[in-house]
Amino acid sequence: MNSFEFNKIFAALLVALLVAMIANLVGEEAVHPAKIAKNVFIIDVAEAPVESGGEVKEEKVPPIGPFLAKASVANGEKLVNKLCGQCHTFKAGEPAKVGPNLFGIVGNTFAHMASFAYSRVFQEKHGKDTWDEEKLNIYLHKPRALMPGTKMAFAGIKKIQDRADVIAYLKSLK
Ligand code: HEC
Repeated sequence: MNSFEFNKIFAALLVALLVAMIANLVGEEAVHPAKIAKNVFIIDVAEAPVESGGEVKEEKVPPIGPFLAKASVANGEKLVNKLCGQCHTFKAGEPAKVGPNLFGIVGNTFAHMASFAYSRVFQEKHGKDTWDEEKLNIYLHKPRALMPGTKMAFAGIKKIQDRADVIAYLKSLK
């Protein structure tokens, strides 16, 4: 190897080193690895009270009685038309929509409409449980809490007086 060739190889190595150094510098500039002051993934796991059986207990829904005593059937009808009418019918003998007909539902059994294809959780309770005012209170507060897996896609009515008004209206349908 003559000195000329040696110089070429040496120069090539130098250039490679230089390129690597520049790339490193530019890379660091571009990415800006900023230090994070604290852990940003704060996962807030709410502790659900667990019953002895290991079942998760739902939040308490206050009893509906006192609110039913001062309920407005007229307001209940308005709420029902607005919140439930797209999926339910309410007059005797009317066909189901997305959900079953609800005429005479208060005091009736779960999954009361024979021709309706209820979800499994409803079918399992048919004939075993009855829609009284308190069950409706809990169901309408948060349908999925009472009936996990229900196909009633409805978040619930949070205001207890509104639930009482709705239940009072449902009671009037008989
Ligand atoms: C998006 C459609 C939808 C809306 C809105 C809706 N429901 Fe339902 N509802 C259903 C379906 C579907 C079922 C059947 C549930 C199942 O099989 O899981 C049902 C079931 C019920 C049942 C049980 C009936 C039975 O025979 O056991 C009641 C009571 C009820 N709904 C009341 C209401 C009330 C009151 C409202 C308004 C505040 C409402 N629903 C809003 C779709 C709806």
